[in-house]
Amino acid sequence: MDSADGLVLALPKGRILKEVTPLLGRAGIEPEPAFADGKSRQLRFSTNVKGLSIVCVRSFDVATFVAFGAAHMGVAGSDVLMEFDYPENYAPLDLGIGRCRLMIAEPADMVDSDDPARWSHIAVATKYPESTRRHFAARGVQAECIKLNGSMELAPALGLSRRIVDLVDTGRTLKANGLVEVEHIADVSSRLVVNRAALKTRPEEIGGWIDRFREAVDGAQA
Ligand code: PRP
Repeated sequence: MDSADGLVLALPKGRILKEVTPLLGRAGIEPEPAFADGKSRQLRFSTNVKGLSIVCVRSFDVATFVAFGAAHMGVAGSDVLMEFDYPENYAPLDLGIGRCRLMIAEPADMVDSDDPARWSHIAVATKYPESTRRHFAARGVQAECIKLNGSMELAPALGLSRRIVDLVDTGRTLKANGLVEVEHIADVSSRLVVNRAALKTRPEEIGGWIDRFREAVDGAQA
Protein backbone atom coordinates (compact mmCIF):
# COMPACT_ATOMS: atom_id res chain seq x y z
CA MET A 1 0.00 0.00 0.00
CA ASP A 2 2.36 2.74 1.21
CA SER A 3 6.08 3.01 1.45
CA ALA A 4 7.57 2.30 4.89
CA ASP A 5 8.00 6.01 5.56
CA GLY A 6 4.41 6.93 4.67
CA LEU A 7 2.32 8.96 7.08
CA VAL A 8 -0.54 7.35 8.99
CA LEU A 9 -3.64 9.28 10.10
CA ALA A 10 -5.77 7.53 12.77
CA LEU A 11 -9.49 8.27 12.75
CA PRO A 12 -12.11 7.21 15.29
CA LYS A 13 -14.73 4.69 14.17
CA GLY A 14 -18.33 5.53 14.88
CA ARG A 15 -20.36 8.68 14.86
CA ILE A 16 -17.44 11.14 14.52
CA LEU A 17 -16.30 9.53 11.29
CA LYS A 18 -19.24 11.05 9.40
CA GLU A 19 -18.28 14.51 10.61
CA VAL A 20 -14.59 13.98 9.82
CA THR A 21 -15.08 12.94 6.19
CA PRO A 22 -16.05 16.44 4.84
CA LEU A 23 -13.13 17.94 6.76
CA LEU A 24 -10.76 15.47 5.09
CA GLY A 25 -12.14 16.56 1.71
CA ARG A 26 -11.51 20.23 2.51
CA ALA A 27 -7.96 19.34 3.58
CA GLY A 28 -7.46 17.64 0.19
CA ILE A 29 -7.65 14.02 1.38
CA GLU A 30 -9.85 11.58 -0.55
CA PRO A 31 -9.78 8.05 0.90
CA GLU A 32 -10.16 5.02 -1.36
CA PRO A 33 -13.84 4.02 -1.97
CA ALA A 34 -13.85 1.18 0.62
CA PHE A 35 -13.56 3.85 3.36
CA ALA A 36 -17.17 4.94 2.77
CA ASP A 37 -18.48 1.37 2.56
CA GLY A 38 -20.18 0.75 5.90
CA LYS A 39 -20.01 -3.03 5.42
CA SER A 40 -16.28 -3.26 4.74
CA ARG A 41 -14.12 -4.86 7.45
CA GLN A 42 -11.04 -3.09 6.09
CA LEU A 43 -9.23 -1.00 8.72
CA ARG A 44 -6.49 0.68 6.68
CA PHE A 45 -7.14 2.76 3.60
CA SER A 46 -5.00 4.42 0.98
CA THR A 47 -5.79 7.99 -0.09
CA ASN A 48 -5.30 10.21 -3.13
CA VAL A 49 -2.27 11.69 -1.31
CA LYS A 50 0.85 9.70 -2.06
CA GLY A 51 2.27 8.16 1.11
CA LEU A 52 -0.72 9.05 3.33
CA SER A 53 -2.92 6.26 4.65
CA ILE A 54 -5.84 6.28 7.05
CA VAL A 55 -6.50 3.76 9.83
CA CYS A 56 -9.83 3.46 11.64
CA VAL A 57 -9.59 2.55 15.33
CA ARG A 58 -11.77 2.72 18.44
CA SER A 59 -12.16 6.35 19.50
CA PHE A 60 -10.47 5.57 22.84
CA ASP A 61 -7.45 4.11 21.04
CA VAL A 62 -6.60 7.05 18.75
CA ALA A 63 -4.51 8.73 21.46
CA THR A 64 -2.61 5.48 22.07
CA PHE A 65 -1.85 4.79 18.40
CA VAL A 66 -0.48 8.36 18.06
CA ALA A 67 1.44 8.38 21.38
CA PHE A 68 3.31 5.21 20.45
CA GLY A 69 4.07 6.51 16.96
CA ALA A 70 2.01 3.77 15.26
CA ALA A 71 0.10 6.66 13.69
CA HIS A 72 1.74 10.04 13.10
CA MET A 73 -1.49 12.03 13.39
CA GLY A 74 -5.03 11.41 14.50
CA VAL A 75 -8.44 12.83 15.26
CA ALA A 76 -9.26 12.35 18.94
CA GLY A 77 -11.91 13.68 21.29
CA SER A 78 -10.63 16.05 23.96
CA ASP A 79 -12.26 13.59 26.41
CA VAL A 80 -9.90 10.85 25.22
CA LEU A 81 -6.84 13.15 25.28
CA MET A 82 -7.76 14.23 28.82
CA GLU A 83 -8.27 10.66 30.02
CA PHE A 84 -4.96 9.34 28.65
CA ASP A 85 -2.88 12.52 28.82
CA TYR A 86 0.16 11.09 26.97
CA PRO A 87 3.10 13.54 27.03
CA GLU A 88 4.06 12.29 23.54
CA ASN A 89 0.89 13.79 22.06
CA TYR A 90 0.44 17.37 20.92
CA ALA A 91 -3.06 18.57 20.01
CA PRO A 92 -2.67 21.91 18.22
CA LEU A 93 -6.08 22.24 16.63
CA ASP A 94 -9.74 22.14 17.67
CA LEU A 95 -11.58 20.69 14.68
CA GLY A 96 -14.93 22.07 15.81
CA ILE A 97 -16.70 18.72 15.41
CA GLY A 98 -17.88 16.05 17.85
CA ARG A 99 -19.05 18.66 20.32
CA CYS A 100 -20.59 17.31 23.52
CA ARG A 101 -19.96 17.47 27.27
CA LEU A 102 -18.65 15.20 30.01
CA MET A 103 -21.21 15.21 32.80
CA ILE A 104 -22.10 13.62 36.12
CA ALA A 105 -25.64 12.26 36.10
CA GLU A 106 -27.91 10.59 38.61
CA PRO A 107 -31.48 9.26 38.78
CA ALA A 108 -34.09 11.99 38.38
CA ASP A 109 -35.79 10.94 41.63
CA MET A 110 -32.58 11.54 43.60
CA VAL A 111 -32.01 15.12 42.50
CA ASP A 112 -34.30 16.93 44.96
CA SER A 113 -32.69 15.34 47.99
CA ASP A 114 -29.12 15.59 46.72
CA ASP A 115 -26.72 18.52 46.91
CA PRO A 116 -23.46 18.05 44.94
CA ALA A 117 -21.79 20.69 47.17
CA ARG A 118 -22.14 18.26 50.12
CA TRP A 119 -20.55 15.21 48.47
CA SER A 120 -17.45 13.88 50.26
CA HIS A 121 -17.30 10.36 48.84
CA ILE A 122 -19.16 9.08 45.81
CA ALA A 123 -19.25 5.97 43.64
CA VAL A 124 -19.41 6.47 39.89
CA ALA A 125 -19.62 4.13 36.89
CA THR A 126 -17.64 5.53 33.99
CA LYS A 127 -15.43 5.07 30.97
CA TYR A 128 -13.35 7.96 32.35
CA PRO A 129 -11.88 6.94 35.75
CA GLU A 130 -8.81 9.20 35.49
CA SER A 131 -10.69 12.34 34.46
CA THR A 132 -13.36 11.61 37.05
CA ARG A 133 -10.87 11.15 39.90
CA ARG A 134 -8.99 14.29 38.88
CA HIS A 135 -12.16 16.35 38.72
CA PHE A 136 -13.35 15.25 42.14
CA ALA A 137 -9.90 15.41 43.77
CA ALA A 138 -9.72 19.07 42.73
CA ARG A 139 -12.83 19.75 44.76
CA GLY A 140 -11.97 17.51 47.70
CA VAL A 141 -14.32 14.64 46.90
CA GLN A 142 -13.12 11.04 46.95
CA ALA A 143 -14.46 9.23 43.89
CA GLU A 144 -14.63 5.47 43.68
CA CYS A 145 -14.79 4.62 39.98
CA ILE A 146 -16.19 1.47 38.47
CA LYS A 147 -14.79 1.22 34.95
CA LEU A 148 -17.26 0.35 32.20
CA ASN A 149 -16.81 0.50 28.45
CA GLY A 150 -20.35 1.52 27.51
CA SER A 151 -24.00 1.53 28.61
CA MET A 152 -23.08 3.39 31.81
CA GLU A 153 -26.68 4.60 31.96
CA LEU A 154 -27.73 1.17 33.26
CA ALA A 155 -25.53 1.37 36.37
CA PRO A 156 -27.86 3.31 38.74
CA ALA A 157 -30.97 1.20 38.01
CA LEU A 158 -29.03 -2.04 38.48
CA GLY A 159 -27.36 -0.94 41.71
CA LEU A 160 -23.83 -0.79 40.34
CA SER A 161 -23.36 2.85 41.34
CA ARG A 162 -25.75 5.69 42.16
CA ARG A 163 -24.10 8.06 39.70
CA ILE A 164 -22.40 7.96 36.32
CA VAL A 165 -19.91 10.10 34.43
CA ASP A 166 -20.50 10.02 30.69
CA LEU A 167 -20.65 12.05 27.50
CA VAL A 168 -23.90 13.85 26.85
CA ASP A 169 -24.83 15.23 23.45
CA THR A 170 -28.58 15.58 22.89
CA GLY A 171 -29.40 14.23 26.38
CA ARG A 172 -31.70 11.60 24.89
CA THR A 173 -29.82 8.62 26.34
CA LEU A 174 -29.93 10.05 29.87
CA LYS A 175 -33.63 10.89 29.58
CA ALA A 176 -34.52 7.46 28.21
CA ASN A 177 -32.88 5.93 31.27
CA GLY A 178 -34.38 8.23 33.90
CA LEU A 179 -31.20 10.17 34.58
CA VAL A 180 -30.43 13.90 34.78
CA GLU A 181 -27.23 15.93 34.56
CA VAL A 182 -26.08 17.28 37.93
CA GLU A 183 -22.53 18.50 37.35
CA HIS A 184 -20.40 19.53 34.38
CA ILE A 185 -16.83 18.20 34.08
CA ALA A 186 -15.71 19.40 30.65
CA ASP A 187 -16.83 20.56 27.23
CA VAL A 188 -15.62 18.15 24.57
CA SER A 189 -14.74 18.46 20.88
CA SER A 190 -12.51 16.60 18.43
CA ARG A 191 -8.89 17.68 18.08
CA LEU A 192 -6.15 17.06 15.56
CA VAL A 193 -3.43 15.27 17.53
CA VAL A 194 0.13 14.62 16.35
CA ASN A 195 3.05 12.67 17.74
CA ARG A 196 5.61 15.21 19.05
CA ALA A 197 8.65 13.19 17.94
CA ALA A 198 7.20 12.76 14.44
CA LEU A 199 6.53 16.50 14.24
CA LYS A 200 10.14 17.16 15.24
CA THR A 201 11.61 14.76 12.68
CA ARG A 202 9.16 15.58 9.85
CA PRO A 203 8.21 19.20 10.52
CA GLU A 204 7.42 20.16 6.94
CA GLU A 205 5.10 17.25 6.22
CA ILE A 206 3.28 17.12 9.54
CA GLY A 207 3.35 20.89 10.06
CA GLY A 208 1.93 21.15 6.53
CA TRP A 209 -1.00 18.91 7.51
CA ILE A 210 -1.66 20.96 10.64
CA ASP A 211 -1.86 24.07 8.41
CA ARG A 212 -4.11 22.33 5.89
CA PHE A 213 -6.48 21.11 8.60
CA ARG A 214 -6.50 24.60 10.12
CA GLU A 215 -7.52 26.05 6.75
CA ALA A 216 -10.16 23.32 6.37
CA VAL A 217 -11.63 24.20 9.79
CA ASP A 218 -11.54 27.94 9.08
CA GLY A 219 -13.22 27.28 5.70
CA ALA A 220 -15.96 25.26 7.39
CA GLN A 221 -16.65 28.01 9.91
CA ALA A 222 -16.51 30.94 7.44
C1 PRP B 1 -22.41 8.15 23.82
C2 PRP B 1 -22.43 8.37 25.32
C3 PRP B 1 -23.90 8.32 25.65
C4 PRP B 1 -24.57 8.87 24.41
C5 PRP B 1 -24.94 10.30 24.62
O1 PRP B 1 -22.46 6.80 23.56
O2 PRP B 1 -21.66 7.39 25.98
O3 PRP B 1 -24.31 7.00 25.91
O4 PRP B 1 -23.60 8.80 23.34
O5 PRP B 1 -25.59 10.86 23.48
P1 PRP B 1 -26.99 11.61 23.62
O6 PRP B 1 -26.85 12.61 24.73
O7 PRP B 1 -27.16 12.29 22.28
O8 PRP B 1 -28.04 10.59 23.87
P2 PRP B 1 -22.23 6.20 22.11
O9 PRP B 1 -23.53 6.12 21.38
O10 PRP B 1 -21.16 6.98 21.40
O11 PRP B 1 -21.79 4.74 22.39
P3 PRP B 1 -20.88 4.10 23.55
O12 PRP B 1 -21.84 3.68 24.63
O13 PRP B 1 -20.22 2.96 22.87
O14 PRP B 1 -19.90 5.14 24.03
